[in-house]
Amino acid sequence: MNILITGGAGFIGSNLAAYHIAQGDSVFVVDDFSSGSIKNIVLLQNSRNFQFAKADILVWDKLNEVTAWSDRIYHMAAIVGVKNVLADPRAVLATNITGTERLFRIISEENQQVQILLASTSEVYGFNPKSSFIESDDIIFKESKSLRWCYAITKLADEYIALAYAINPGLKVAIARLFNTIGPNQTQKHGWVVPSFINQAMRNESITIYGDGSQTRSFCDVRDMIQALDLLVSTPASYGEVVNVGNNHEISILDLAYLVKDRVGSQSEMKFISYKDAYGIQFDDIFHRRPILSKLKQLTGFTPQWTLTETLDFLIQMERKRS
Ligand SMILES: NC(=O)c1ccc[n+]([C@@H]2O[C@H](COP(=O)([O-])OP(=O)(O)OC[C@H]3O[C@@H](n4cnc5c(N)ncnc54)[C@H](O)[C@@H]3O)[C@@H](O)[C@H]2O)c1
Repeated sequence: MNILITGGAGFIGSNLAAYHIAQGDSVFVVDDFSSGSIKNIVLLQNSRNFQFAKADILVWDKLNEVTAWSDRIYHMAAIVGVKNVLADPRAVLATNITGTERLFRIISEENQQVQILLASTSEVYGFNPKSSFIESDDIIFKESKSLRWCYAITKLADEYIALAYAINPGLKVAIARLFNTIGPNQTQKHGWVVPSFINQAMRNESITIYGDGSQTRSFCDVRDMIQALDLLVSTPASYGEVVNVGNNHEISILDLAYLVKDRVGSQSEMKFISYKDAYGIQFDDIFHRRPILSKLKQLTGFTPQWTLTETLDFLIQMERKRS
């Protein structure tokens, strides 16, 4: 199978690329390295089934040609992470909306048979105060000038671009609402919580918790995530559907910090800082983000395999080998 991965030098995209190369597929990655890195794909370049272009999907002149070549496209390219979003909100609007619209327009012109996986996000549930989210839940945004929300809004726009093209001309697109994902190639550079905690614990530095740590999250191992995305985009019943993808085990950020400390065997202490100190602005964080996964299971039979402790141990072991 020929597979195009936009944003394929990023965290999830590079794991998808490695997985499909291992399956014997041909993979083409396009990435502008705005947050991704050559380090994430350097080993894949040894494979003759791997091709790569450093380019911006807004202007890449080979997008038509590679789209025509593809049997499947994972559209992962986006500006992601609160720090990156606040640093350049205009780039968020351009990449996440204009880039997605360009891609779908080209697909509809060049290759209406291609399978497409659009990466959306649990952030689209916005301020909905529920603790667990099902796809039919209300999407709630309140009056807020905080540019933090432009990520969620642009991803919601992406969903509607995909839905419009899924109806006419009937493209084979599955829309995945990804919940928090962790695994190799996720850097602490962009403020991701698990790599930051592991790094701090391994150095016996204070583990930095934003807010009081009572906010909860559900973390999915990227190995589970890519299996689920692969199954979803291969399942015709999922075309034109919006589907939660993640792991429904929930943990508070404070308990996560203690779990990381315990698995590392660290002497670190806990340090609490405000969102204003962390991001330079105050904003309301989302209290819970736990997916209800019944739709994913019904469509694909998939349930996550890796526990949080197993994933943490795996990442800690990788980090120890590196240092
Ligand atoms: N990681 C998570 O927990 C999570 C949760 C929800 C949704 N998602 C979604 O999954 C996708 C992948 O996320 P990730 O965590 O791997 O993020 P990431 O930042 O590691 O990957 C995104 C990649 O897109 C690339 N990119 C950005 N703008 C581009 C452009 N204009 N042209 C070409 N490449 C561009 C970046 O360089 C980066 O490599 C994103 O669409 C994100 O919204 C991720």
